[in-house]
Amino acid sequence: MKRIAVLTSGGDAPGMNAAIRAVARTGIEKGMEVFGVEHGYAGLIAGNFIPLGARDVGGIMQRGGTMLGSARCPEFKAEEGRVKALRELNQKGIEGLVVIGGNGSQTGANSLAATGYPVVGVASTIDNDLYGSEITIGVDTALNIALETIDRLKVTASSHQRAMLVEVMGRDCGYLALMAGIAGGAEAVLIPECETNPEELAREIWRAYERGKPHAIVVVAEGARPNAQGLAQYVKEQRARLGFELRVTIIGYVQRGGTPTYFDRMLASRLGAAAVEQLAAGHHGLLVGIQKSEVVATPLAEVVAGKKPLDPRLLDLARVLSK
Ligand code: ADP
Ligand code: F6P
Repeated sequence: MKRIAVLTSGGDAPGMNAAIRAVARTGIEKGMEVFGVEHGYAGLIAGNFIPLGARDVGGIMQRGGTMLGSARCPEFKAEEGRVKALRELNQKGIEGLVVIGGNGSQTGANSLAATGYPVVGVASTIDNDLYGSEITIGVDTALNIALETIDRLKVTASSHQRAMLVEVMGRDCGYLALMAGIAGGAEAVLIPECETNPEELAREIWRAYERGKPHAIVVVAEGARPNAQGLAQYVKEQRARLGFELRVTIIGYVQRGGTPTYFDRMLASRLGAAAVEQLAAGHHGLLVGIQKSEVVATPLAEVVAGKKPLDPRLLDLARVLSK
């Protein structure tokens, strides 16, 4: 394989740049010409390729986001869009593609791989909901940002005896909320996987005060039902009866945009390099991820069909340690 391309797709994740750098430099080491595709599958369809030399990827590792840009591209979900993308790849003589992204992006990679085109995915999403990798690029940084926020909020929550709801990302998956809740010492964690009874949450907050806690921190995933706003509205309406105030802080995109931690830079460097090694060895239709600290490759079809449920022991740990 003499020419390969790399793209980043879906939600950006801190560490994507380190993965691009690893793809480019590993490819160059193997005598390949490496191209970056701008703005994910949209750039693939439009034929927006830029050459990536070793110097072009210098100084990017410590930057959040992605130097190539990312995008949501509905056109790629249709066969017509993928045919256009394949035409561009073939016209430019590109023989293999690395797709850095989460669930949706790897579903797209799998559709492209199903045509026989050599594709390797790199597990990258702050949500950590991708089957085939215990942890994905961006999770560690996103969690550290959430923790910094929670630690700060605890200070003011204690000063005012005020309950604080902290909304973290995770539309469909509660991993970030759960882990930030455990490591941040939250009194409750609300996730999309389980519906919340607002009255039960209010009782939970009361019980925390009764146990002598000066604060009550509740970490809420973006996709929790009801969500942070809904819960805050409930407490506001019942304020007189409940006897406490509740404030909401939404971390939102701040969580996606941080400087990648050591862990994310290392993970991204290893996975980016591994993706190129797979292509060079003639292996494709795979996702490279991490299992038990080792890089492993899992067929994309399996990744797309698989589910990564939350570990119920961690849910239990969150409950026990909130005492
Ligand atoms: P993430 O990769 O972060 O989960 P998305 O779910 O938004 O992000 O997916 C990113 C992109 O992947 C989509 O905009 C689309 O271009 C592509 N994609 C998602 N689902 C499919 C699919 N079923 N078939 C083909 N491409 C898809
Ligand atoms: O996939 C990562 C993620 O941060 C989700 O947790 C979140 O729901 C989503 O991206 C929101 O991103 P956007 O607004 O860019 O679609």
